[in-house]
Amino acid sequence: MTDSQKKHPGKAVTVPDFSAAKAQGRKLVMVTAYDYPMARLADEAGVDALLVGDSLGMVVQGRKNPLAVTLGQMIYHAEMVSRGASRALVVVDLPFMSYQESSRQGVRSAGKILKRTGAKAVKLEGGVRMEATIRAITDAGIPVMAHIGLTPQAVHQLGGFKVQRDREQILQDARAVEAAGAFALVVECVPAALAQEVTAAVKIPTIGIGAGPNCDGQILVAHDLLELTQGKYPSFSKSYASVGSAIVNAFSSYAQEVRSGKFPSAEHSLK
Ligand code: KIV
Repeated sequence: MTDSQKKHPGKAVTVPDFSAAKAQGRKLVMVTAYDYPMARLADEAGVDALLVGDSLGMVVQGRKNPLAVTLGQMIYHAEMVSRGASRALVVVDLPFMSYQESSRQGVRSAGKILKRTGAKAVKLEGGVRMEATIRAITDAGIPVMAHIGLTPQAVHQLGGFKVQRDREQILQDARAVEAAGAFALVVECVPAALAQEVTAAVKIPTIGIGAGPNCDGQILVAHDLLELTQGKYPSFSKSYASVGSAIVNAFSSYAQEVRSGKFPSAEHSLK
């Protein structure tokens, strides 16, 4: 039994558990993870689902947006995350241009992710315009989490990472992805009142990020909530630990001790 299973015994979270949570008024907790150690730690903490987000383009690869992330890279990271997750449901982002060409392309990409990584669901961006693709992927037996509001893969079309306020479009998008078979819906960067309206308008759970307290669940980027990258964090994110500065302090203590001859001491030397 893994450490996570000891701390959070019980069965692994499944896709149907998501709709059950909404029906029972139980909030869903999601966080991003990109590798084995972070997946293990978040799983041990008892989060419901891990998203292998294409935000890894920014927080792992140091890019300005997620557009350069490839399907191969998502598979590489998702495989490590799946190995670290005993209980949490693993969801993987379809990266830019791995599904936008056609529904067929979307099914093929989603299939590769499930076959090669052990993940249980995919996420893709778009509402009405992705209806046919979501339907085709779910028809293939692959659960789809949709993503509306601020969709980072369309950053250039949207003119930047901005709050999305088009009420009619956002409500239409939410209804469209539900009708197409999505099992849950990420709502990113929309006013809290509108996210509340979306949550009431659909039966599938909404997972908010920068979308206020009335979504059915929340997701944050792990590097933001841990203050791991020591950069500028979005105003909607909250810091729960200063892991980045703890790491800098640890590295500089190590450097100081090596330079002063304090490390390695007899205790850390072999006989
Ligand atoms: O890529 C990602 O991490 C995401 C979340 C911010 C929802 O899509």
